[in-house]
Amino acid sequence: MPDSPLGIPPDMRPAHVAVVMDGNGRWAKQRHLPRTIGHQRGRRAVRRLIEAAHQLGVPYLTIFAFSSENWSRPAAEVDALMRLFLKALQRDIDEMHRNGVRLRFIGDCARFSPALQSLMQQAEARTAENRQLFLQVAVSYGGQWDILQAVRSLMASGDALPADDAALRARFEVQLATAPCPPVDLFIRTGGEQRISNFLLWQLAYAELYFTDCLWPDFDRAAFETALAWFAHRQRRFGGVIDD
Ligand code: FPP
Repeated sequence: MPDSPLGIPPDMRPAHVAVVMDGNGRWAKQRHLPRTIGHQRGRRAVRRLIEAAHQLGVPYLTIFAFSSENWSRPAAEVDALMRLFLKALQRDIDEMHRNGVRLRFIGDCARFSPALQSLMQQAEARTAENRQLFLQVAVSYGGQWDILQAVRSLMASGDALPADDAALRARFEVQLATAPCPPVDLFIRTGGEQRISNFLLWQLAYAELYFTDCLWPDFDRAAFETALAWFAHRQRRFGGVIDD
């Protein structure tokens, strides 16, 4: 892993960062602009985050682009978001590939248009061997959906479930949409709300939770570095105790 320009030792950096990118609508409203402009500026912030994560040596990044619940937004906003995802995939994929980004979409992707699904699959296949940054884009995703689909897969195997909890947990975790990514170390939510909103529920079990009032389109490299510096000072006990 490259040395961080922040001077944070590698063992104090998060391996997996998950981000709820909230505040696009309010960012636009403050400027008397349509919400869709907020999402467009949000896309720029996504590009900055990917670059920063790559440069600062964060190997796994998961971003919440569209939740299972976002389908209930007005049709015009859902359409605009779909067009934005399509455009982002067409325009940003070359640069991501050049930078060694492996792209994966997690969620109930069958709900997307055939054109979008096909682009998603192409992008995943093209970047499958990249190793600089594993980027998961959660789309039509919900943490409860993920747990339920993992349970279904486990049951569908027809094998007897292990009595031992550790063995059962291991069998279950490989069925999660995020497997084989490690658990989340640092959860970031922009936009001032302090909730998880059905994002990665199982995977956040021991994550440090970082909330900022910064609206997503304003989230830049400096804001990300502030979150990483905050994380480096957390004392993680994973349910145990640490001697003074
Ligand atoms: C939440 O803000 C944001 C979303 C539901 C969409 C996230 C999409 C992007 C950041 C755009 C680009 C993404 C990719 C992967 C290319 P909100 O609309 O709920 O804002 P509000 O709470 O201020 O209304």
